[in-house]
Amino acid sequence: MAPKITVIGTGYLGATHAAAMAELGFEVLGLDVVPEKIELLSKGRVPMYEPGLEDLLRKHVAGIEGSSGRLRFTMDWAEVAEFGDVHFVCVNTPQKHGEYACDMSYVDSAMESLARELRRPALVVGKSTVPVGSAERLAARITELAPAGPEVELAWNPEFLREGFAVQDTLHPDRIVVGIRSEAAERTLREVYATPVAEGSPFVVTDFPTAELVKTSANSFLATKISFINAMAEVCEAAGGDVVKLAEALGYDERIGNKFLRAGIGFGGGCLPKDIRAFMARAGELGADQALTFLREVDSINMRRRGHMVELAREAVGADSSFLGKRVAVLGATFKPDSDDVRDSPALNVAGQIHLQGGQVTVYDPKGMTNAKRLFPTLGYADSALEAVRGADVVLHLTEWREFRELDPAVLGAAVARRLVLDGRNALDPSPWRAAGWTYRAMGRPRA
Ligand code: UDX
Repeated sequence: MAPKITVIGTGYLGATHAAAMAELGFEVLGLDVVPEKIELLSKGRVPMYEPGLEDLLRKHVAGIEGSSGRLRFTMDWAEVAEFGDVHFVCVNTPQKHGEYACDMSYVDSAMESLARELRRPALVVGKSTVPVGSAERLAARITELAPAGPEVELAWNPEFLREGFAVQDTLHPDRIVVGIRSEAAERTLREVYATPVAEGSPFVVTDFPTAELVKTSANSFLATKISFINAMAEVCEAAGGDVVKLAEALGYDERIGNKFLRAGIGFGGGCLPKDIRAFMARAGELGADQALTFLREVDSINMRRRGHMVELAREAVGADSSFLGKRVAVLGATFKPDSDDVRDSPALNVAGQIHLQGGQVTVYDPKGMTNAKRLFPTLGYADSALEAVRGADVVLHLTEWREFRELDPAVLGAAVARRLVLDGRNALDPSPWRAAGWTYRAMGRPRA
């Protein structure tokens, strides 16, 4: 019989994983400790914006008309332990307050609450991004706490989904990585992932530390690639080169590839920044800090981008030490398009810096307004791009939503005080803007 699956923690990762497992044909029970989340999910709704996720949930959540009924949610640990053969732990691992290290308290507490109820054989599968060494520690803790003792096993199966593509990435992953300690665990996970593997996803079997490291090193590589191209943007600006052309030319080399070479205000979000910092902190604990000193530079290049954007805006509006009396329109608040996530968003960071220096900042974002207002209540907000740019001395394009690429520069031009746009994502096509009388400037590109 197919294993029954539970998903512990129904945030971004867990909600998507639960829906995807139901889509693959499994009976799934999701657990969260936040009652509001359970209430929403049980109606087939999610507390964040993620394309396709609500449709997938509605297709499977029990009680919704026409659904498969394979997916349910609960807050009861005993029910979860009784129901599941395979328990995926998907709780988050944020950065510790005031430290670079990863806060493991949610993972530890989820694993312990679950283990205490496990009275029959089960496979517990960690999916959260954790410091290397965590799986080994947790495996011992689970055996110690579970009434079923050694009949409960742990595996580690990192998740690589991207926000905005979560459903697609979960159903058709680039690779499935499993850290295991027994053939039985491998067999169970091969059964769970039989469909994506049959459809071509590679299945990589390894030990605990390697599985944990694949995730942190993948994110470190991605962050390094972005900071590399942003470092080249700095050199291009100094030398009069064009980083967009440079990236295009580099990308034709298949060994380099053309992805993640978009220069701009840099990376943000809930993963890359905190993961590289936690990785450095963990390497320090292991005595391998020298191996990762380059990540400090990656982080530093990335943070410099935000300050550089502020300086470009200052220069553009002719402000000296402050932005007093200057109206600045900010298009974009989320850390990337197709998401409502504003965690460590470069766009909001830039908006916040200008606001703190006296600028009158008005922000518009297609999906991130509610979260942005919560995080930065003192900024000005508008209900559309057109409204945001009204009377602006400069327009900053800081998150590359399609909606912004489709704006009519002539219409916007009639609303602003000065036709000056700074493209912090190198994503707008300069030609129509220039044709409509705008001065278009971008990071790492020559000034026309
Ligand atoms: C990332 C990883 O891609 C994913 O595999 C992992 O599971 C979680 O972390 P995500 O945080 O959703 O995913 O965002 P991603 O698409 O990687 O973008 C991260 C940031 O880098 C964004 O702020 C984005 O704007 C920026 N970025 C990306 C660039 O500045 N330039 C690029 O070329 C690509």
